[in-house]
Amino acid sequence: MSAIVVVGAQWGDEGKGKVTDVIGQDVDWVVKFNGGNNAGHTVVVDGQKFALHLIPAGIISQQATCVIGNGVVVDPKVLFEEIDELKAANINCDHLKVSGQAHMILSYNKIADGLAERVLGEGKIGTTGRGIGPTYADKMNRVGLRINYLRHPDLLKEKIETIVAQKNVIFRALGVEELSAKKVYEEAMSYAPRLLPMIIDSAPMLNEALRLGQHMLFEAGQATMLDIDHGTYPYVTSSSCTAGGACTGTGVGPTHIDRVIGIAKAYTTRVGEGPFPTELSGPQGDKLRELGGEYGVTTGRPRRTGWFDAVVAAYAVDINGLTDLAITKLDVLDDYDEIPVCTGYKLPDGQVMTTMPSDQVDFAQAEPIYTMHPGWKCDISKARTFDDLPKAAQDYIHALEDYSRCRISVIGVGPGREETIVRNDLLAKQ
Ligand code: GDP
Ligand code: IMO
Ligand code: MG
Repeated sequence: MSAIVVVGAQWGDEGKGKVTDVIGQDVDWVVKFNGGNNAGHTVVVDGQKFALHLIPAGIISQQATCVIGNGVVVDPKVLFEEIDELKAANINCDHLKVSGQAHMILSYNKIADGLAERVLGEGKIGTTGRGIGPTYADKMNRVGLRINYLRHPDLLKEKIETIVAQKNVIFRALGVEELSAKKVYEEAMSYAPRLLPMIIDSAPMLNEALRLGQHMLFEAGQATMLDIDHGTYPYVTSSSCTAGGACTGTGVGPTHIDRVIGIAKAYTTRVGEGPFPTELSGPQGDKLRELGGEYGVTTGRPRRTGWFDAVVAAYAVDINGLTDLAITKLDVLDDYDEIPVCTGYKLPDGQVMTTMPSDQVDFAQAEPIYTMHPGWKCDISKARTFDDLPKAAQDYIHALEDYSRCRISVIGVGPGREETIVRNDLLAKQ
């Protein structure tokens, strides 16, 4: 038995989809535990590119049963579209299951997402506009709509009347067209025929699978620095993207988790607003964006780019209890003479910190302190073992291991499944 959690160690888009696909070929289950269709996870196999949003990236290898866990928020319309797209590409989704305890995103939550951003004005978060925050807010406020309610139309109707009354107070005040409980109910029920057959009671099923000795991978959406508790609040998403979320978002207890693998790029990107100490502005930032193809999978927005931040990496190691790091996109740095790595921050009062400031006012003002590393100036995309890498690239990886205090078990040298160096058996128990 082996249960592995894959989490983002930066601000998202680190290559969780690719690493999940690589490990997903050897596991029995791949389970998503947080977020929703704000995520965009890419898998490239034999030159064919797949963009996953709600469905676990493990679906591509067709080896594992894929589960959307209770901690995910599900927009049924998007789910059906994604299934149809995958089917058209000959990816079978019959073994995709959804927890009945997961909450639904309906149209009103997408409207609410836009309104919340409008009200914040200059202070907006830069959300993906997919209704994620309002749906989690409703869940915490105990007025959310679990998928299971579709099995009880009268109960669903009651719940919708409550939520519509609440939302309309806000919609009225903002001069937005009020919701009709009847229309919301019709929207929700229209999803029932296709969604209900996919529903499972996921926690007992996953625990039984673990008892039977099966291998399980938990795939996070988003990342450590976007986590509702541990990220750059309030510029975060609304779920627990860190390793603890794998337990609450699936109903599998922490004693079952054998490995936690954090995914980080060899540099850093961020989409949306919020602090980013190593961000590069102007032509330097543009160069890294073009070299890395840094445009959002979900919204198409250009990603903000910057150097690797080892303070962030070490923080992610602690917050998630990482056993391993995967460093992706090392190939993107092939052309640089020198590669800066942030190893500390200078605060406005002159204080130097080598750990993450918990006060976001400090973090927002943190100036990066860089240590320079020589580049390797050659194409590394053909490397398949650590020994294939030029010495300067090996030294860069060793330096990141030292700074982050975590071994690097996977190195990405290209987007394709095979463009991966695996240094340690990822399924072995620790
Ligand atoms: P996720 O959200 O963490 O799954 O990451 P995304 O899919 O949003 O973004 C990662 C991007 O980098 C995708 O376009 C991947 O195909 C690509 N990618 C992943 N690993 C590598 C790598 O090692 N090298 C290169 N060049 N691209 C990679
Ligand atoms: P994956 O799984 C990068 C960001 C948004 C915004 C903030 C809140 O592909 O790594 P939300 O719509 O979640 O309320 O937006 O979080 N964000 C992501 N950034 N990758 C993601 O997912 C993201 N999901 C949300 O840009 O700043
Ligand atoms: Mg992504």
